[in-house]
Amino acid sequence: MKDVLCMYYSRTGNTKKTMEEIAQALDAELVELQDGVPRSGVGGWLRCGLDAMRRTTKPIRPFKTERPVREYRLVIVGSPVWAGRCSSVVRDFLKRYGKDLQNAAYVITRGSEDRNEEVFEQMDLYVPCGHRAAVSLRSGSVGYAFWEEEFMRQVRDFLGQK
Ligand SMILES: Cc1cc2nc3c(=O)[nH]c(=O)nc-3n(C[C@H](O)[C@H](O)[C@H](O)COP(=O)(O)O)c2cc1C
Repeated sequence: MKDVLCMYYSRTGNTKKTMEEIAQALDAELVELQDGVPRSGVGGWLRCGLDAMRRTTKPIRPFKTERPVREYRLVIVGSPVWAGRCSSVVRDFLKRYGKDLQNAAYVITRGSEDRNEEVFEQMDLYVPCGHRAAVSLRSGSVGYAFWEEEFMRQVRDFLGQK
């Protein structure tokens, strides 16, 4: 059984790629979240932006984990940034499960130079335990590998791993 669970939503693959890398490096379980809402194309883009700005969520689809979410020592939650907020899919996960998390860490992926780190505090509103580590990454940017590695170092430190 794994101690670390990586949960994420990804619309266009950036967060998916990052979470796959992190889960592999940390030997963590990896689960993708979906809410079943059509989010492709221009219409989907607009819907994502509106959902994020209004903080509206549709119920996430049932997902399978090896054990209940509350039993993992650490849950790493991955989301794209939408309009300066976390994705509504991840918001719904946090609304439902945030209070159950023993320990949390956040990974956000973004498109702009702005790190959007205020998103971490927004996510904490649903997570009474707060976050142990967090990183904001931009695919293809010069600092990507450095900051991803630094995040994994913080997580390993927390877990007491070398
Ligand atoms: C509706 C929408 C709003 C976005 N808003 C922002 C934003 O406010 N700031 C930013 O840096 N990137 C923004 N982005 C870009 C995404 O955060 C970025 O491309 C992310 O890596 C996409 O992750 P994904 O491929 O896992 O879906 C937005 C993307 C979408 C679809």
